[in-house]
Amino acid sequence: MANIKVGIVGLGRLGKVHAANIAKHTPGAELFAACSFVDEELEFAKNELGVKETFKTYEEMVENSNIDAVVIVSPSGFHPEQIRLAMEKGKHVFSEKPIGLEIGDIKKTIEVIAAHPEKVFMLGFMRRYDESYQYAKKMVDEGKLGELTVVRCYGIDPSSGLESFVKFAGASNSGGLFADMSIHDIDLVRWFTKKEVSRVWAMGKNAAYPELDKVNELETGAAMMQLEDKTMAILVAGRNAAHGYHVETELIGTKGMLRVAAVPEKNLVTVFDEQGVVRPTSQNFPERFSQAFKNEMNEFVACIKEGRQPEVGAIDGLQSTTVAMACQQSVDTNQIVELHVNVKA
Ligand SMILES: NC(=O)c1ccc[n+]([C@@H]2O[C@H](COP(=O)([O-])OP(=O)(O)OC[C@H]3O[C@@H](n4cnc5c(N)ncnc54)[C@H](O)[C@@H]3O)[C@@H](O)[C@H]2O)c1
Repeated sequence: MANIKVGIVGLGRLGKVHAANIAKHTPGAELFAACSFVDEELEFAKNELGVKETFKTYEEMVENSNIDAVVIVSPSGFHPEQIRLAMEKGKHVFSEKPIGLEIGDIKKTIEVIAAHPEKVFMLGFMRRYDESYQYAKKMVDEGKLGELTVVRCYGIDPSSGLESFVKFAGASNSGGLFADMSIHDIDLVRWFTKKEVSRVWAMGKNAAYPELDKVNELETGAAMMQLEDKTMAILVAGRNAAHGYHVETELIGTKGMLRVAAVPEKNLVTVFDEQGVVRPTSQNFPERFSQAFKNEMNEFVACIKEGRQPEVGAIDGLQSTTVAMACQQSVDTNQIVELHVNVKA
């Protein structure tokens, strides 16, 4: 089978990572086209990654009949319309999380995806493709922890990224802390437990960075959740980890518990010096999930070649965004929010 020709939209913080992975680390795929508003980003794609066609508008790129698949890494609010347009033009679609920021819009998008079952649709919940999370998932599925009772998640961005985040949030609407950050943890909770969230109580606080108030973003948020079978989930998300990129997950079951990345280790080095005993830490998402981003893109292309759908799809996008929105609503209203567990679009 010929190489799958991919067009990417968005070449920002994550777009550049996906573009390089498609060009260099995804056998069976060719990074054929790129679309961005920014000239330097298109030059980078041409000069550094050998992209043949570049576009200033997404509409033009999806009209190109040479392109088999699009990878959407634009700001979150653009995802639903760009997914629909690509599907309607007969392309396979990989979209970054979240699938969208508005439930009605997401449902409309799911209808379009469902009308094109022969096209692959995949959502970028890359943690499912991380080796440690896969190891943990296998243990849970084999019953090694017994019945899960609690899932605890930390997802905290490094303070070093704050300045660029304020720009990102202000310019392009992240959807807020829960839709932007906790959505990965919400997906993990659903993935590990195979259950839906039925009620949430969330709160937030801005302490160190008043500039976040100006762009209507939370510095730290916390949520307690009850799942449909009474399993509990506790989530903490934030933008202000002094030591690096802190993503940690704990699963407590009736027969045991496990933690993924209790310390956000960069590598196996331990430094013994005048500061004491120091473990270097992972500093950002491209570093921590470097292999997972490659694995998910390989899975997307394998699904296209083998004519199958990936395990993470549009319904996961709808459910996780619904829960993230409920968290935000809980913060805004200071109320517990009940959710109607329903996986139909
Ligand atoms: N999976 C993860 O862990 C992860 C990490 C970071 C970002 N993301 C997601 O990736 C997406 C992009 O985030 P980012 O941090 O790379 O953003 P960014 O702001 O750094 O980059 C956005 C890019 O999109 C381009 N763009 C904006 N609007 C466009 C449009 N209408 N048409 C074409 N191009 C357009 C910009 O020129 C830029 O290249 C977001 O949805 C975000 O939620 C996911």
